[in-house]
Amino acid sequence: MTLRHILVTGGAGYIGSHLADALVGRGCRVTVLDNLEPQVHRSGTWPSYANPAVRYVRGDVRDRAILEPLVLASDAVVHCAAAVSVGQSMYQVDRYVDVNTRGTALLLDILVNAKHHVRKVLVASSIGVYGEGAYRCQAHGMVAPGIRPEAQLAARDWEQRCPSCGDHVASVPTPEGKALYRDNIYSMTKYHQEEMALLIGRTYGIPVVAPRFFNVYGPRQSLSNPYAGIVAIWLSRLLTGKQPIVFEDGGQLRDFVSVHDVVECLVLMLENAGADFLPVNVGSGQAIPILEIARLLARLLGVPVEPLVAQRGRKFDIRHNTADITRAREALGFEPRVSLEHGFAELIEWARSTPDVAVDYFDQALEELEQKGLLVKS
Ligand SMILES: NC(=O)c1ccc[n+]([C@@H]2O[C@H](COP(=O)([O-])OP(=O)(O)OC[C@H]3O[C@@H](n4cnc5c(N)ncnc54)[C@H](O)[C@@H]3O)[C@@H](O)[C@H]2O)c1
Ligand SMILES: [Zn+2]
Repeated sequence: MTLRHILVTGGAGYIGSHLADALVGRGCRVTVLDNLEPQVHRSGTWPSYANPAVRYVRGDVRDRAILEPLVLASDAVVHCAAAVSVGQSMYQVDRYVDVNTRGTALLLDILVNAKHHVRKVLVASSIGVYGEGAYRCQAHGMVAPGIRPEAQLAARDWEQRCPSCGDHVASVPTPEGKALYRDNIYSMTKYHQEEMALLIGRTYGIPVVAPRFFNVYGPRQSLSNPYAGIVAIWLSRLLTGKQPIVFEDGGQLRDFVSVHDVVECLVLMLENAGADFLPVNVGSGQAIPILEIARLLARLLGVPVEPLVAQRGRKFDIRHNTADITRAREALGFEPRVSLEHGFAELIEWARSTPDVAVDYFDQALEELEQKGLLVKS
């Protein structure tokens, strides 16, 4: 399918900007709608990596007067604009629901009520919709435990337990069919975004895909946003001579996927019908403990700093979640290409060559978590 004119909301951000570049490279006309959220874009201006071939519109996705004409001029919409922090969503409830849930509702309202020629919609969803990943109990097979009780975290009993027999369970890659479970406001909004978009897509015959991003990393991550992902937080700590702080014991398994692989998967979703009307895991398919990532970053940076293993949990954290990418492989022909070593080396090279990219605001964010009682005392 040839899609000529593509609207990327949040396209000044990290994932959206890489996608915009890739689409320009494929001959598409790309429009970006972004309000330059100050927490992400501290300068208040379009980022230095802005693509001269892209049309940039500064505005809010909740503003119908701005969004509607852009949607009407497009063949496809990739909705990346969002407020993106799990921790912050637990005390900025109104903002998160308004930007993420209502912003998507407005997009869908336009698609239902205006005369348009949009033939594909991608809505950025997240690993967060699963809550905990999938687990296997030796006695009970596949099980889906909920969030760990505070008392368990306080006792530093980090591993998940089987809901039936209480024994420890083993993490397995999470397929899209796993029961969904939200344990923080950000993830609820991601769940609502994807459910609403898939529902409207199926009802009105508009092909919608909900990519569920796992832990995306790569150049252009907002390193100074202390509410962003752990890689950005640790890197900015290391670049400012501080120890990365690893919650619990660092054994949490995650799936780190290069932004380049993510973009390739998004392009496949735009160009093929194989995943239409479905949620799709977007990950590397590799499980890795987060402590190893913190160490890898320090090693690649050449700083002799050991991560600080906090042995403390946060109330909303999950233990393990890694991607089963069978659907992306089979429905789209997706194959991740970037190795961890290469991908992180590229990230670090970019961070080093980008002045003022890393200002560490993490201590302040940690203090906020402490004040709101979101760190478990142990
Ligand atoms: N990075 C990850 O690991 C990851 C994981 C899961 C899901 N996601 C999802 O992917 C999408 C993109 O994430 P990202 O990592 O590129 O984040 P990002 O913060 O770099 O980009 C988001 C962009 O949206 C813009 N924005 C925020 N609120 C807006 C509003 N009201 N109106 C217009 N623009 C607005 C911001 O200015 C920013 O440029 C988000 O929907 C996020 O929830 C990302
Ligand atoms: Zn069991």
